[in-house]
Amino acid sequence: MYLVQEKRLKRMVDVLNKRQKDLILFVDDVKNEHNFSAIIRTCDAVGILYLYYYYSLNREIPINEGITMGAHKWVLLEKVNHKVEVLEELKNKGFQIVSTFLSEKSIDFRSVDYTKPTVIVVGNEMSGVSEEIVDISDYQIIIPMYGMVQSLNVSVATGVILYEAQRQRKKAGMYEKPSLSEEEREEILRKWAFEDVIKQKKPEGE
Ligand SMILES: C[S@@+](CC[C@H](N)C(=O)[O-])C[C@H]1O[C@@H](n2cnc3c(N)ncnc32)[C@H](O)[C@@H]1O
Repeated sequence: MYLVQEKRLKRMVDVLNKRQKDLILFVDDVKNEHNFSAIIRTCDAVGILYLYYYYSLNREIPINEGITMGAHKWVLLEKVNHKVEVLEELKNKGFQIVSTFLSEKSIDFRSVDYTKPTVIVVGNEMSGVSEEIVDISDYQIIIPMYGMVQSLNVSVATGVILYEAQRQRKKAGMYEKPSLSEEEREEILRKWAFEDVIKQKKPEGE
């Protein structure tokens, strides 16, 4: 029994059916609240369920709801303290680790097969993806740049790469059947529906 309206519940079910549980985004110490919020919004649009993030400052990472437009409610945000351990664990579970890395030796981001279980790592606005993550990565990718400026804004780069992953997965029919089990979908749906009702019931200003 859910307290949300039937139409809204159906929308949540449709979205959950398209969530790609084996395509994870790992955000390595992105500091700017606008960048992080824009990344969350893109994750929701592409069908990412899990966004892992490492944040080195001793406070909660700020989220700008004017930028996420609510997307932060539909993407599961997991804060990570021991980033290499977490990525090694995912590697042991069969995920390939694909790090963005601005080097001439990096491969074109379109040459990776994103239909495989994949973690895409994007990095800090100044220092990029940390060296220890680059070292354990299976692939180091770059979006080719032909301008005077050497890099893209991190949220833009994330969008470009995630949409290539979406393109490949759509072509492979991966949005046509759920990647989550019935039990997993049921559990997330309960959480989403509950939080949706609670948020709507909160008095203005809270
Ligand atoms: C502003 S860049 C960081 C620049 C930093 N000096 C470096 O060398 O990585 C911030 C993040 O955006 C992403 N990014 C920006 N431009 C990119 C590109 N051309 N290819 C791949 N990722 C890119 C990467 O995730 C990068 O860590």
